[in-house]
Amino acid sequence: MTKASKPEESNTYYAQGGIIYKGENDSPDLLVKDILEAGAGASNPIAARILAELGPYLVEELLVKKLSVPFSRDESGKLDLTEEGAHSVRRIIHSDDLTGRAIEISLLNYVSKLENVKIWTEHMAIDLLNKQYHCKNPLYVYDEPECLGAYVLSIKEGVVKRFLAKATILATGGLGQIYLHTSNPKGATGDGFAMAYRAGVQLINMEYIQFHPTTLYHKESERFLISESVRGEGGVLKTPLGEPFMEKYHPLGSLAPRDVVARAIHEEMTENGYEYVLLDLVSYMDAEKIKKRFPNIYETCLKYGVDITKEPIPVVPAVHFACGGIRTNMWGETSMKRLFAVGEVACTGLHGANRLASTSLLEGLVFGYRAANRIADKWSELKKDIPLPVSWVDTGEFYPDPALINQDWNTLKHIMWNYVGLVRTEKRLKRALFDLRHLYWEIEEFYRKAKLTRSLLELRNGILIGYIIATAAYKNRESRGCHYRKDTEI
Ligand code: SIN
Repeated sequence: MTKASKPEESNTYYAQGGIIYKGENDSPDLLVKDILEAGAGASNPIAARILAELGPYLVEELLVKKLSVPFSRDESGKLDLTEEGAHSVRRIIHSDDLTGRAIEISLLNYVSKLENVKIWTEHMAIDLLNKQYHCKNPLYVYDEPECLGAYVLSIKEGVVKRFLAKATILATGGLGQIYLHTSNPKGATGDGFAMAYRAGVQLINMEYIQFHPTTLYHKESERFLISESVRGEGGVLKTPLGEPFMEKYHPLGSLAPRDVVARAIHEEMTENGYEYVLLDLVSYMDAEKIKKRFPNIYETCLKYGVDITKEPIPVVPAVHFACGGIRTNMWGETSMKRLFAVGEVACTGLHGANRLASTSLLEGLVFGYRAANRIADKWSELKKDIPLPVSWVDTGEFYPDPALINQDWNTLKHIMWNYVGLVRTEKRLKRALFDLRHLYWEIEEFYRKAKLTRSLLELRNGILIGYIIATAAYKNRESRGCHYRKDTEI
């Protein structure tokens, strides 16, 4: 089920760089080491081990053999391996610079032929059905919390339906849209995190919001991602005066972990008053190769007047990935019975305080596979009858005014960008909490009286999740990975 009109519309669809497979002289131990190092000491070693052991096998069996995803190959027909920041070896496979799209389309083609799978588009979950609160029996409140499905808005019809489910999986992706600048598509409004939180499900590590160091700087572009593989293939970060600067910050230079690179760019920009820095690929790769290796980046930059075969690319950091999320075990199980979470919305602890490049598609594959297996294994227990929750009561009196919704979105995005961004201080976070609390109550009140629309539900979710991130960042005084507290630097 997706709120989008096309089932492929998701963060995965826009993932450029690639998916980890295995390199020459590579090993699960080496991959675990890279994940833990990038995670700044906060990654769960068990999750890293599972990913490193099972990941390459699933890539081969499911993506390459079963789905025949069109990954790029070298002249000899072998899968082409690329590199990204903080990886010890070249171990990432890709489909030009549109890897997520290639995987997702192949998967959807396969799934659409399955008779026991129905895809619902333009249906947006409002809230999870919780046995404790959505059933008439008052004694259920003493039982373990249990998910019975969700209330769902049919966006086209404007009506709310009750979807019952013996197992519910949240695979709702990220939340980048609550920030002013993000690499994420429009739908990444934090819906799954917010629904889980409202249902009393545990979230962890929410302060670890990863910024991608390089998105296109252009007044009319919405922070189009310039893949880390551009640096993996030799691109070098330079000041607008053409001087490389990353060696000052980390021995791995332009291929240092993302948190380090994003902060270094931020520092160069604030210290020197630059509006952007440059990512120079043209000095290191010839024009024809650039067009062949990065066709999507080439075409998109050209649309904005930047010819990457002739000039360096002006770039700035932007919000990219939520490293925290709904706490799950290694089988996708959450703190609520019958509720599972996978992908960006889930947190196995794999990414710790900073995600290693090209782990996100693999994480979706590995832990999605494990969650599905767990549901299948437990099916005899799960298939038992579930109680019937009450129907939705429509209390909407008027349609929300789009001008008000847009203004609240602007306010939220500015608060998050300025006060809960790359560099945080107690003062900024306190201010964010104060402003967001006010906004939260306004929108909750509005939500209760207005007719439901996708944009109102997204705003409600976005504000709540902004508040949760600001709270986590405020409470954690220790700088680690992508959570950087300037005032309490240790
Ligand atoms: C990129 O291509 O730089 C994005 C890949 C990722 O976020 O892992």
